[in-house]
Order: sequence, then C-alpha cells, then structure tokens
Amino acid sequence: SLHTVTTMPTARRPGCPFDPPEELIQAREHGPISRFPFPDGHQGWLVTGYDLVRSVLADSRFSSRRELMRHHPLVDYGDIEVPPAPPGEFLLMDDPQHGRYRKPLVGRFTVRRMRQLTERVEQVTAEHLDAMEKAGPPADLVTAFAKPIPSVIICELLGVPYEDRGSFQEHIDKFLGGEAGDEELFAAYTATQQYLAELVAAKRATPTDDVLSDLTDSDLTDEELKGVALILLSAGFDTTANMLALGAFALLRHPEQLAAWRADPALTDRAVEELLRYLSVAKTFMRTALEDVELGDHTIKAGTTVILSYNTANRDPERFPDPHVLDLRRQDGGHLAFGHGIHQCLGAQLARVEMGVAFPALINRFPTLRLAVPAEDVDLRPELADIYGVKSLPVTWNP
Ligand code: HEM
Repeated sequence: SLHTVTTMPTARRPGCPFDPPEELIQAREHGPISRFPFPDGHQGWLVTGYDLVRSVLADSRFSSRRELMRHHPLVDYGDIEVPPAPPGEFLLMDDPQHGRYRKPLVGRFTVRRMRQLTERVEQVTAEHLDAMEKAGPPADLVTAFAKPIPSVIICELLGVPYEDRGSFQEHIDKFLGGEAGDEELFAAYTATQQYLAELVAAKRATPTDDVLSDLTDSDLTDEELKGVALILLSAGFDTTANMLALGAFALLRHPEQLAAWRADPALTDRAVEELLRYLSVAKTFMRTALEDVELGDHTIKAGTTVILSYNTANRDPERFPDPHVLDLRRQDGGHLAFGHGIHQCLGAQLARVEMGVAFPALINRFPTLRLAVPAEDVDLRPELADIYGVKSLPVTWNP
C-alpha cells in the first residue's frame, strides 16, 4: 500500500485557491506517509497525515539543520554542499544551538506581552482603515491593510525605524514570494544584510526601547544579532500579511461565515484558529533523519530527507471532521499552522493578536465589502513560494 508521489505539485486545482494541491490531498488518502523520490535521485519521504507530521516535529531524531538539507523537492542541484545556517538564524538549527538564540527571545513574545500590544495594534489598524475609507473604493487589501499592519508592529517591536520599512519589505517579498531570479535574490539578500549590520551597530551604540536593543545586552555577537533580526523581520512581515490577505479573500468567498463573525464578536478566537488551520500559509517544511527512525510502518533511514506538508495535515479528516469546510465555529483546535515542538512559531501570540484585531475591524468597518474582480482573477502567489498568499486583493464597498 506504499504510495509514491512522483513530483511536488506546483499548482492548486483551478477554482480552489484555499485547498492544498490535489496530489497532496490524494497522497494523504492513500496513507499518512508516501515515498518521495527527489529530482536528484535521493529517496525521500512526504508526510501528509496529521499524527505523523506532529510526531516528526516532536522528535529530536529529525533535524532542522540547514547543512543537512541537500535535496530540493523541485530542482536537481546534483551532489551539493549546503553551508550551515548563518549565525543567529535558529529556524535552521537544532538544540542546543537553536535554544541559545531562542531562549533570550521567549520572554519577549509571551501571551501577556503580546496582549499588552493589543491597543497599539488597534490603533495601527484603525489608522489604515481610516486611510482606506478616506481614499474611497476600490482598494487593494494587500497594500492598504494586510501588509502594513504587521509590518508597522514588527518594526516597532524590533526597533526598525519607520522610514526604513519600505525598501526592507520589498527585499523580504523577494525572499519569500517564490518569483525572484537568482540574481535578484542575491541582491536582496546582500542589501538586507548590509541594512541589518548598520541597524545592529546603531542599537549597540545607542540602545532604544525594543527587542533588538535588549539583545545587545545578551552574549550574542553583532553577526548573530543580524541573523536573529533577519529571521524575526522576515517571519514577522510576511506570514501574518499573507494570513490577513488570504483570510480576507476566504471570508469574502464564504459570506455566511463572514456574516456569522460580524454578528458575533465572541467568535473571534475560534475564527482566527480556523483561518490558520484552513489556510496554513506556511505550508511545507523539511527535516532530516539523524538516525534510523520507525515512522508509521516504515523505517526512515539516517540521512533521509522528509517533507512535511503542514497544510495537508491540517486537512486530515481523521483529525478534523469535514476538513475542507471553513467553519469559524469549529472547536477542535491543535492545528499545525504554527508548527509544533522546539521550532513552534515564536510569534504565534503576536500573530493571533494581530489577526484577532484586524479581521473584526475590517469586516465591521466595511459592511458591504466585496471583491472588485471575479474570484478567478485574484492574483495568487505561486505554489512554490515558501509562504502562500495573494499578491493583490482588489475590493470595493458602498461608501
Ligand atoms: C517559526 C508560522 C508569524 C517568528 C514558525 C513555524 C511556522 C510558523 C509553521 C515553524 C517552522 C518549522 O516547523 O520549522 C507562522 C505563521 C504566522 C507566523 C502562520 C502568521 C500567521 C510569526 C511572527 C513572527 C514569527 C509574527 C515574529 C516574531 C517566527 C520564528 C520562528 C517561527 C522566529 C522560528 C522558531 C524556532 O525555530 O524556534 N512560524 N508564523 N512568526 N516563526 Fe512564525
């Protein structure tokens, strides 16, 4: 009964922008784990079942180290050497190295700390909705709403000057948008490194009241701080922005759900969790087995790459009844949209506060909000983008 997925799908079913690609849903129907031959010939695995994805994430025998990820799901790079993650980029490290960076940050991102930001998030959201309303319909929800709100907030948290935000955001778009060529990527990477080096030096010289300045008090070097800043900024901009934009699109395509939320503000916490599960914009991550591991009915040999499909796992019918239905009243939490285990999203509470404020504010401000183009014409990110989402979302309303 061992199913093989022969190539990583590069597109979703037309008309189903919110569902994982058909091939991945089918793979999960065959079973929670499939063989996956990488284009370079490496015999890997693809995990699509909720329980198995979760158990890989909880198992320290599966590594996140970048230098072990030598096989690309779509491209044959041949027998390449991959350098380890740059100092500070702890998403691609294992403990204890990972913990050295994560530990000094955890206290800054607790539920309590993030809830204290609620008022500021409300302010920033109101400012952007005011501007959108004042400019009048139509509007692009990506540029008017989804991108600027998380971006102002993460910049303030980190202490990135407001006026630097514009160019920075473009670079991050290039990293994660899945459409930049190698040369463009390299240029964006260099420019970002340069910018962050200057920023870290400035914080060390003149500390201000923010996370980055605080970290200059830890034993992290400037080089390491640069890496930490990069991971926080890129994760803080792009993921929440895409959740807000794709989430707004999903709500507009499910008007009865939107109406239910508008009518019942008490739905907010559950609605946010359900949008996270249903959309799973951070959809795929990889791990490498450090030793032979029994997984399901199979042995994952040491050195083997395992692809984890978080978005397919979040549509597993054995875990979530009617998984392809967006149901904002759903009570069965425990989705994997923020991952699980030691790398579980550091910014989860921040993202929850942002979404819990921004979605209700948007739908209450504009009772007649609707798409300004046919749904098929909404411009989606390509499937190979690290973070899925919409590129623009034209909307209109009755002024
Ligand atoms: C890690 C998703 C927002 C910072 C992760 C991971 C996921 C994720 C799935 C785990 C990756 C893995 O398993 O290897 C999301 C989603 C977000 C979001 C869906 C928005 C809705 C944020 C924000 C921040 C942030 C706002 C900013 C503080 C991080 C960091 C990590 C991480 C630093 C690495 C944690 C570690 O390796 O220990 N995120 N994230 N994320 N996220 Fe988020």
